[in-house]
Amino acid sequence: MITKHAHFDLSTRNTFRMRVRCALFVEVSAEEDLLSLDWDALPQPVLVMGGGSNLLFTKDFPGTVLHVGICHSERSEESWTLGAGVVFDDFCAWAASEGLWGPENLSLIPGECGASAVQNIGAYGVEAKDILTDIRAYDRVEGRFVHIDPATCGYGYRTSRFKTEWKGRYIITAVTYRVSCTPQPKLDYGGVRKALEDSGKVLPSASLRDPVRANASGSTLPLSPKDIRDAIIGIRNQKLPAVEEMGSAGSFFCNPVISREHFRRIVETARKDNGPDYEVPHYEVGDQVKVPAAWMIDQCGFKGARSGGAQVYPKQPLVIVNASGNASPQEVIGLEQQIIQTIERKYGITLHPEVEHV
Ligand code: EPU
Repeated sequence: MITKHAHFDLSTRNTFRMRVRCALFVEVSAEEDLLSLDWDALPQPVLVMGGGSNLLFTKDFPGTVLHVGICHSERSEESWTLGAGVVFDDFCAWAASEGLWGPENLSLIPGECGASAVQNIGAYGVEAKDILTDIRAYDRVEGRFVHIDPATCGYGYRTSRFKTEWKGRYIITAVTYRVSCTPQPKLDYGGVRKALEDSGKVLPSASLRDPVRANASGSTLPLSPKDIRDAIIGIRNQKLPAVEEMGSAGSFFCNPVISREHFRRIVETARKDNGPDYEVPHYEVGDQVKVPAAWMIDQCGFKGARSGGAQVYPKQPLVIVNASGNASPQEVIGLEQQIIQTIERKYGITLHPEVEHV
Protein backbone atom coordinates (compact mmCIF):
# COMPACT_ATOMS: atom_id res chain seq x y z
CA MET A 1 0.00 0.00 0.00
CA ILE A 2 1.18 3.53 -0.77
CA THR A 3 0.14 6.40 1.48
CA LYS A 4 0.77 10.02 0.56
CA HIS A 5 0.44 13.24 2.54
CA ALA A 6 1.11 16.68 1.07
CA HIS A 7 2.73 19.47 3.14
CA PHE A 8 3.46 16.92 5.86
CA ASP A 9 4.60 17.85 9.39
CA LEU A 10 7.78 15.83 10.08
CA SER A 11 8.07 16.61 13.80
CA THR A 12 7.01 13.13 14.91
CA ARG A 13 9.13 11.49 12.19
CA ASN A 14 12.52 12.84 13.31
CA THR A 15 13.90 12.05 16.75
CA PHE A 16 15.36 15.59 17.08
CA ARG A 17 11.70 16.73 16.92
CA MET A 18 12.44 19.55 14.49
CA ARG A 19 9.21 21.23 13.41
CA VAL A 20 9.65 21.18 9.67
CA ARG A 21 7.48 20.09 6.76
CA CYS A 22 8.12 18.30 3.48
CA ALA A 23 6.26 18.94 0.23
CA LEU A 24 5.16 15.28 0.11
CA PHE A 25 5.49 12.35 2.52
CA VAL A 26 5.15 8.90 0.95
CA GLU A 27 5.07 5.60 2.80
CA VAL A 28 5.27 2.21 1.11
CA SER A 29 4.47 -1.03 2.89
CA ALA A 30 5.52 -3.58 0.24
CA GLU A 31 8.28 -3.93 -2.36
CA GLU A 32 5.81 -3.85 -5.30
CA ASP A 33 4.81 -0.33 -4.23
CA LEU A 34 8.25 0.89 -5.33
CA LEU A 35 7.54 -0.43 -8.85
CA SER A 36 4.19 1.30 -9.09
CA LEU A 37 5.36 4.72 -7.80
CA ASP A 38 5.40 7.42 -10.47
CA TRP A 39 8.89 8.64 -9.59
CA ASP A 40 8.92 11.51 -12.11
CA ALA A 41 5.75 12.98 -10.61
CA LEU A 42 7.21 13.20 -7.10
CA PRO A 43 8.44 16.58 -5.84
CA GLN A 44 12.24 16.50 -6.01
CA PRO A 45 14.59 15.67 -4.42
CA VAL A 46 13.52 12.36 -2.87
CA LEU A 47 14.89 11.61 0.60
CA VAL A 48 14.59 8.04 1.86
CA MET A 49 14.14 8.07 5.61
CA GLY A 50 14.15 5.32 8.24
CA GLY A 51 13.36 6.16 11.86
CA GLY A 52 14.68 9.73 11.40
CA SER A 53 17.12 9.15 14.25
CA ASN A 54 20.28 10.39 12.57
CA LEU A 55 18.96 13.45 10.76
CA LEU A 56 18.88 17.16 11.46
CA PHE A 57 16.30 18.89 9.28
CA THR A 58 17.70 22.41 8.95
CA LYS A 59 14.61 23.79 7.16
CA ASP A 60 11.42 22.70 5.43
CA PHE A 61 12.23 19.98 2.88
CA PRO A 62 11.17 21.02 -0.63
CA GLY A 63 10.89 17.46 -2.04
CA THR A 64 9.51 14.03 -1.13
CA VAL A 65 10.33 12.14 2.05
CA LEU A 66 9.93 8.42 1.40
CA HIS A 67 9.55 6.02 4.31
CA VAL A 68 10.02 2.32 3.57
CA GLY A 69 7.59 0.79 6.05
CA ILE A 70 8.22 -2.82 4.97
CA CYS A 71 8.09 -4.84 8.18
CA HIS A 72 8.45 -8.59 7.59
CA SER A 73 10.73 -10.85 9.64
CA GLU A 74 11.96 -14.32 8.66
CA ARG A 75 14.32 -16.35 10.76
CA SER A 76 16.36 -19.29 9.57
CA GLU A 77 18.89 -21.31 11.53
CA GLU A 78 21.82 -18.93 11.11
CA SER A 79 20.32 -15.72 9.83
CA TRP A 80 17.45 -13.32 10.25
CA THR A 81 15.94 -11.32 7.39
CA LEU A 82 14.10 -8.13 8.32
CA GLY A 83 12.13 -5.60 6.31
CA ALA A 84 13.78 -2.17 6.15
CA GLY A 85 11.08 -0.66 8.36
CA VAL A 86 11.50 -3.04 11.30
CA VAL A 87 12.77 -1.18 14.38
CA PHE A 88 16.36 -2.33 14.78
CA ASP A 89 16.11 -2.74 18.53
CA ASP A 90 13.06 -5.01 18.11
CA PHE A 91 15.35 -7.36 16.18
CA CYS A 92 17.97 -7.12 18.99
CA ALA A 93 15.29 -7.97 21.56
CA TRP A 94 13.90 -10.90 19.53
CA ALA A 95 17.38 -12.36 18.98
CA ALA A 96 18.27 -12.04 22.69
CA SER A 97 15.00 -13.60 23.81
CA GLU A 98 15.70 -16.60 21.58
CA GLY A 99 19.24 -16.91 22.99
CA LEU A 100 20.80 -15.99 19.63
CA TRP A 101 24.14 -14.19 19.46
CA GLY A 102 24.88 -11.42 16.97
CA PRO A 103 23.26 -8.03 17.55
CA GLU A 104 23.26 -7.89 21.39
CA ASN A 105 25.99 -5.21 21.62
CA LEU A 106 23.92 -2.99 19.31
CA SER A 107 20.94 -2.98 21.70
CA LEU A 108 18.89 0.19 22.07
CA ILE A 109 20.38 2.02 19.09
CA PRO A 110 17.45 3.99 17.71
CA GLY A 111 16.39 3.61 14.09
CA GLU A 112 15.23 1.00 11.62
CA CYS A 113 16.87 -1.99 9.96
CA GLY A 114 17.23 -0.38 6.51
CA ALA A 115 19.16 2.57 7.92
CA SER A 116 21.39 0.27 9.98
CA ALA A 117 22.98 -0.89 6.71
CA VAL A 118 23.40 2.64 5.35
CA GLN A 119 24.97 4.12 8.46
CA ASN A 120 26.90 1.02 9.59
CA ILE A 121 25.60 1.63 13.10
CA GLY A 122 27.97 0.61 15.83
CA ALA A 123 28.38 0.42 19.58
CA TYR A 124 30.43 -1.41 22.18
CA GLY A 125 32.92 -2.93 19.77
CA VAL A 126 30.43 -4.22 17.14
CA GLU A 127 29.31 -2.64 13.87
CA ALA A 128 26.40 -3.63 11.62
CA LYS A 129 28.89 -4.74 8.93
CA ASP A 130 30.24 -7.43 11.29
CA ILE A 131 26.94 -9.35 11.16
CA LEU A 132 25.33 -8.22 7.87
CA THR A 133 25.20 -10.97 5.25
CA ASP A 134 22.84 -9.59 2.58
CA ILE A 135 21.05 -6.41 1.55
CA ARG A 136 18.04 -6.34 -0.74
CA ALA A 137 17.33 -3.07 -2.50
CA TYR A 138 15.45 -1.44 -5.36
CA ASP A 139 17.95 -0.08 -7.87
CA ARG A 140 16.46 3.19 -9.15
CA VAL A 141 18.93 3.34 -12.05
CA GLU A 142 18.07 -0.10 -13.41
CA GLY A 143 14.47 -0.16 -12.16
CA ARG A 144 14.76 -3.62 -10.56
CA PHE A 145 15.39 -5.34 -7.24
CA VAL A 146 18.94 -6.50 -6.47
CA HIS A 147 20.85 -8.27 -3.73
CA ILE A 148 23.96 -6.43 -2.58
CA ASP A 149 26.89 -8.20 -0.96
CA PRO A 150 27.87 -6.20 2.17
CA ALA A 151 31.54 -6.77 1.24
CA THR A 152 31.02 -4.38 -1.71
CA CYS A 153 29.46 -1.59 0.38
CA GLY A 154 32.70 0.14 1.42
CA TYR A 155 31.84 0.01 5.11
CA GLY A 156 33.83 2.17 7.51
CA TYR A 157 33.21 4.02 10.76
CA ARG A 158 29.55 5.16 10.40
CA THR A 159 29.83 5.22 6.63
CA SER A 160 29.21 3.24 3.43
CA ARG A 161 28.85 3.70 -0.34
CA PHE A 162 25.11 4.25 0.28
CA LYS A 163 26.13 7.63 1.79
CA THR A 164 28.63 8.53 -0.94
CA GLU A 165 28.80 7.33 -4.55
CA TRP A 166 25.59 5.26 -4.31
CA LYS A 167 23.60 8.05 -2.66
CA GLY A 168 20.05 8.15 -4.05
CA ARG A 169 20.49 5.00 -6.18
CA TYR A 170 19.41 2.12 -3.95
CA ILE A 171 16.35 1.93 -1.72
CA ILE A 172 16.98 -0.79 0.84
CA THR A 173 13.95 -3.00 1.36
CA ALA A 174 15.39 -5.77 3.56
CA VAL A 175 18.57 -6.76 5.37
CA THR A 176 19.84 -10.13 6.55
CA TYR A 177 21.86 -10.45 9.72
CA ARG A 178 23.88 -13.46 10.91
CA VAL A 179 22.74 -14.94 14.21
CA SER A 180 24.22 -17.89 16.03
CA CYS A 181 23.53 -20.28 18.91
CA THR A 182 27.29 -20.47 19.57
CA PRO A 183 28.32 -18.08 22.37
CA GLN A 184 30.43 -15.20 21.10
CA PRO A 185 30.38 -12.55 23.85
CA LYS A 186 32.20 -9.28 23.17
CA LEU A 187 32.76 -7.58 26.48
CA ASP A 188 35.96 -5.62 26.08
CA TYR A 189 34.63 -2.21 25.11
CA GLY A 190 33.17 0.75 26.95
CA GLY A 191 32.61 -0.78 30.37
CA VAL A 192 30.49 -3.77 29.27
CA ARG A 193 32.50 -6.31 31.23
CA LYS A 194 32.57 -4.05 34.30
CA ALA A 195 28.77 -3.59 34.17
CA LEU A 196 28.36 -7.39 34.05
CA GLU A 197 30.83 -7.88 36.91
CA ASP A 198 29.15 -5.17 39.01
CA SER A 199 25.77 -6.83 38.55
CA GLY A 200 27.27 -10.20 39.49
CA LYS A 201 26.61 -11.66 36.03
CA VAL A 202 30.28 -12.23 35.23
CA LEU A 203 32.71 -13.47 37.81
CA PRO A 204 35.81 -11.24 37.90
CA SER A 205 37.91 -14.41 37.73
CA ALA A 206 36.16 -15.71 34.58
CA SER A 207 38.31 -15.91 31.48
CA LEU A 208 37.65 -13.43 28.69
CA ARG A 209 37.10 -16.18 26.14
CA ASP A 210 34.54 -18.06 28.16
CA PRO A 211 32.83 -15.66 30.53
CA VAL A 212 30.30 -17.18 32.88
CA ARG A 213 27.66 -15.72 35.09
CA ALA A 214 27.03 -16.62 38.69
CA ASN A 215 23.68 -18.06 39.71
CA ALA A 216 22.05 -17.79 43.13
CA SER A 217 23.78 -20.85 44.53
CA GLY A 218 27.22 -19.50 43.67
CA SER A 219 27.92 -21.92 40.84
CA THR A 220 28.11 -20.69 37.27
CA LEU A 221 25.99 -20.66 34.11
CA PRO A 222 26.98 -19.64 30.60
CA LEU A 223 26.50 -15.94 29.87
CA SER A 224 23.51 -15.30 27.58
CA PRO A 225 23.00 -12.65 24.86
CA LYS A 226 20.22 -11.28 27.05
CA ASP A 227 22.71 -10.68 29.90
CA ILE A 228 24.80 -8.54 27.53
CA ARG A 229 21.76 -6.77 26.10
CA ASP A 230 20.59 -5.90 29.63
CA ALA A 231 24.05 -4.60 30.59
CA ILE A 232 24.25 -2.42 27.47
CA ILE A 233 20.73 -1.07 27.98
CA GLY A 234 21.79 -0.16 31.53
CA ILE A 235 24.91 1.70 30.32
CA ARG A 236 23.06 3.54 27.55
CA ASN A 237 20.19 4.55 29.83
CA GLN A 238 22.64 6.09 32.28
CA LYS A 239 24.20 8.45 29.78
CA LEU A 240 21.99 8.84 26.72
CA PRO A 241 18.64 10.64 26.68
CA ALA A 242 15.61 8.47 25.83
CA VAL A 243 14.39 9.82 22.49
CA GLU A 244 10.75 9.52 23.61
CA GLU A 245 11.51 11.94 26.45
CA MET A 246 13.93 14.39 24.88
CA GLY A 247 14.64 14.97 21.20
CA SER A 248 18.15 14.16 19.99
CA ALA A 249 19.89 12.22 17.25
CA GLY A 250 22.36 10.26 19.39
CA SER A 251 26.02 11.12 18.98
CA PHE A 252 26.10 14.44 17.15
CA PHE A 253 29.79 14.27 16.14
CA CYS A 254 32.07 11.50 14.89
CA ASN A 255 35.10 10.69 17.01
CA PRO A 256 38.13 12.11 15.17
CA VAL A 257 41.15 9.98 14.26
CA ILE A 258 44.48 11.84 14.33
CA SER A 259 48.22 11.17 13.98
CA ARG A 260 50.34 10.13 16.98
CA GLU A 261 52.25 13.43 16.74
CA HIS A 262 49.02 15.43 16.89
CA PHE A 263 47.87 13.29 19.84
CA ARG A 264 51.17 14.03 21.66
CA ARG A 265 50.42 17.78 21.36
CA ILE A 266 46.90 17.20 22.71
CA VAL A 267 48.33 15.34 25.71
CA GLU A 268 50.62 18.35 26.38
CA THR A 269 47.66 20.76 26.28
CA ALA A 270 45.57 18.45 28.49
CA ARG A 271 48.39 18.16 31.06
CA LYS A 272 48.74 21.94 31.22
CA ASP A 273 45.00 22.11 31.97
CA ASN A 274 44.62 19.10 34.27
CA GLY A 275 48.02 18.40 35.87
CA PRO A 276 51.19 16.52 34.82
CA ASP A 277 49.85 12.98 35.37
CA TYR A 278 46.59 13.48 33.45
CA GLU A 279 45.71 10.65 31.02
CA VAL A 280 43.79 11.58 27.87
CA PRO A 281 41.23 8.87 26.94
CA HIS A 282 41.94 7.41 23.51
CA TYR A 283 41.85 4.25 21.38
CA GLU A 284 44.65 3.09 19.06
CA VAL A 285 43.47 2.71 15.45
CA GLY A 286 46.37 1.22 13.45
CA ASP A 287 49.16 3.81 13.64
CA GLN A 288 46.67 6.58 14.42
CA VAL A 289 44.72 7.57 17.51
CA LYS A 290 40.97 8.04 18.01
CA VAL A 291 40.21 10.73 20.60
CA PRO A 292 36.67 10.87 22.02
CA ALA A 293 34.88 14.02 20.84
CA ALA A 294 32.90 13.80 24.14
CA TRP A 295 36.14 14.34 26.06
CA MET A 296 37.12 17.44 24.02
CA ILE A 297 33.64 18.95 24.31
CA ASP A 298 33.73 18.32 28.07
CA GLN A 299 37.24 19.85 28.40
CA CYS A 300 36.03 22.98 26.60
CA GLY A 301 33.31 23.43 29.23
CA PHE A 302 30.32 22.78 26.98
CA LYS A 303 28.49 20.28 29.20
CA GLY A 304 24.98 21.68 29.69
CA ALA A 305 25.69 24.71 27.39
CA ARG A 306 22.57 26.11 25.74
CA SER A 307 21.65 27.95 22.59
CA GLY A 308 17.95 28.77 22.97
CA GLY A 309 16.12 25.47 23.34
CA ALA A 310 19.11 23.35 22.23
CA GLN A 311 21.51 22.00 24.83
CA VAL A 312 24.71 19.95 25.09
CA TYR A 313 23.45 16.96 27.08
CA PRO A 314 25.03 17.20 30.54
CA LYS A 315 25.51 13.42 31.00
CA GLN A 316 26.99 12.82 27.54
CA PRO A 317 28.32 15.92 25.78
CA LEU A 318 28.58 14.10 22.45
CA VAL A 319 24.81 14.48 22.23
CA ILE A 320 22.94 17.71 21.46
CA VAL A 321 19.36 17.64 22.74
CA ASN A 322 16.18 19.53 21.98
CA ALA A 323 15.84 20.40 25.68
CA SER A 324 12.89 22.77 25.40
CA GLY A 325 10.98 20.52 22.98
CA ASN A 326 10.74 23.36 20.47
CA ALA A 327 14.38 24.15 19.66
CA SER A 328 14.84 25.45 16.15
CA PRO A 329 17.34 24.01 13.65
CA GLN A 330 19.24 27.33 13.86
CA GLU A 331 19.68 26.92 17.63
CA VAL A 332 21.08 23.41 17.18
CA ILE A 333 23.41 24.63 14.42
CA GLY A 334 24.48 27.58 16.60
CA LEU A 335 25.64 25.18 19.31
CA GLU A 336 27.28 22.89 16.75
CA GLN A 337 29.29 25.79 15.28
CA GLN A 338 30.41 27.07 18.69
CA ILE A 339 31.67 23.59 19.58
CA ILE A 340 33.45 23.06 16.24
CA GLN A 341 35.18 26.47 16.39
CA THR A 342 36.25 26.18 20.03
CA ILE A 343 37.71 22.69 19.51
CA GLU A 344 39.48 23.81 16.34
CA ARG A 345 41.14 26.66 18.24
CA LYS A 346 42.11 24.59 21.27
CA TYR A 347 43.12 21.24 19.74
CA GLY A 348 43.54 21.93 16.00
CA ILE A 349 40.89 19.29 15.22
CA THR A 350 37.84 19.90 13.04
CA LEU A 351 34.94 17.82 14.34
CA HIS A 352 32.58 16.43 11.71
CA PRO A 353 28.93 15.85 12.50
CA GLU A 354 27.74 12.26 12.51
CA VAL A 355 24.17 13.50 12.15
CA GLU A 356 23.19 14.11 8.52
CA HIS A 357 22.08 17.70 7.88
CA VAL A 358 19.19 17.99 5.44
N1 EPU B 1 34.07 11.48 28.24
C1 EPU B 1 34.41 12.60 28.95
N2 EPU B 1 33.40 13.35 29.48
C2 EPU B 1 32.09 13.01 29.36
C3 EPU B 1 31.76 11.84 28.63
C4 EPU B 1 32.77 11.09 28.08
O1 EPU B 1 35.57 12.96 29.08
O2 EPU B 1 31.24 13.72 29.88
C5 EPU B 1 35.15 10.67 27.67
C6 EPU B 1 35.36 9.43 28.52
O3 EPU B 1 36.74 9.23 28.65
C7 EPU B 1 34.81 8.30 27.70
C8 EPU B 1 34.99 8.84 26.29
O4 EPU B 1 34.81 10.26 26.38
O5 EPU B 1 35.49 7.12 27.89
C9 EPU B 1 34.04 8.26 25.29
O6 EPU B 1 32.73 8.47 25.73
P1 EPU B 1 31.57 7.44 25.42
O7 EPU B 1 32.04 6.05 25.57
O8 EPU B 1 30.40 7.85 26.20
O9 EPU B 1 31.21 7.79 23.90
P2 EPU B 1 31.94 7.32 22.62
O10 EPU B 1 32.77 6.13 22.85
O11 EPU B 1 32.69 8.39 21.97
C10 EPU B 1 30.78 5.92 20.80
C11 EPU B 1 29.66 6.02 19.80
C12 EPU B 1 28.32 5.75 20.46
C13 EPU B 1 28.36 4.38 21.10
C14 EPU B 1 29.52 4.35 22.11
C15 EPU B 1 29.71 2.98 22.71
C16 EPU B 1 30.43 7.59 18.12
C17 EPU B 1 30.28 8.96 17.54
N3 EPU B 1 29.65 7.33 19.18
O12 EPU B 1 30.64 6.95 21.72
O13 EPU B 1 27.35 5.72 19.43
O14 EPU B 1 27.15 4.10 21.75
O15 EPU B 1 30.76 4.66 21.44
O16 EPU B 1 30.28 2.15 21.76
O17 EPU B 1 31.21 6.80 17.63
C18 EPU B 1 25.73 6.98 18.23
O18 EPU B 1 26.37 6.72 17.21
O19 EPU B 1 24.68 7.68 18.19
C19 EPU B 1 26.21 6.48 19.50
C20 EPU B 1 25.57 6.74 20.64
